[in-house]
Amino acid sequence: MSIESRVENRVARIIIARPEKKNALTQAMYAGLADAIKAAEENPQVRALLLHGAGDTFTAGNDIEDFVRASESLQTGSARAFMHALTGAQKPVVTAVNGLAVGIGTTLLLHCDLVYLAHDAILKMPFVPLGLCAEFGSSLLLPSMAGHARVAEKLLLGDAIDPEEAVQLGIATKVLPAAQVLAHAQAQAERFGKLPPEAVRTTKRLMRDGQRAQLQQHIDVELAAFTQRLASAEAKEAFKAFFERRAPQFD
Ligand code: COA
Repeated sequence: MSIESRVENRVARIIIARPEKKNALTQAMYAGLADAIKAAEENPQVRALLLHGAGDTFTAGNDIEDFVRASESLQTGSARAFMHALTGAQKPVVTAVNGLAVGIGTTLLLHCDLVYLAHDAILKMPFVPLGLCAEFGSSLLLPSMAGHARVAEKLLLGDAIDPEEAVQLGIATKVLPAAQVLAHAQAQAERFGKLPPEAVRTTKRLMRDGQRAQLQQHIDVELAAFTQRLASAEAKEAFKAFFERRAPQFD
């Protein structure tokens, strides 16, 4: 298990801890994240969740070996369980991002409440270059937040997003020096410990509820398309190229 969690000062700290693989997420890790979120939601001592990565990376996204194996259906498996746990979280979720946040590492930020990025953070959604398609509600939320043309470079071309641009696009809250981002996120999460918890939960629900039904439906539509893309010749070539450390050929 490469997901660590502990409660400190009314904050459930959830750490993606697989630094030797740049915190790439396996099916077991999605299950671990879903369980940690559920435990934090059920623990009356916890007022907020804090999510971050171990080492110099937030996460390199889905484990590409797991994509190759496609051992578990995305439409019913642990990744979907994680998505539902995060989108259903009633307590505030605070995230600190150091270094790279690739794929779901970027799209999960759309479902967090306070998102703090280090100056060295780089957000990237290389779904199309990998022969895949957008996921976790990103093809619905990003165009509605920032406009189709502004996010098309990010979703269709897979261009990187620097931290300041992420704030402009509405993906992140604030940019901080790398050495301060985690302490700042922890301090912000601890502030919820002194606020009335029901008022916090009610306000979060009101902020999210307008889009909730459409979002859940869209996430499932994306997962169906994503599952088809995983089996495509384009994706197979992209995954093979990644492990052979060469550029893929889509001729
Ligand atoms: N899945 C599986 N393994 C991954 C991985 C991923 N998403 N990301 C990194 N790794 C592994 C590498 O294969 C390497 O393993 P090895 O040491 O056994 O060879 C190790 O993590 C370190 O990665 P490396 O590529 O050597 O580090 P880097 O600093 O040169 O590059 C990244 C880091 C994140 C830019 C690069 O690894 C990358 O592009 N990863 C894929 C990201 C991706 O496309 N994710 C899917 C999004 S849908």
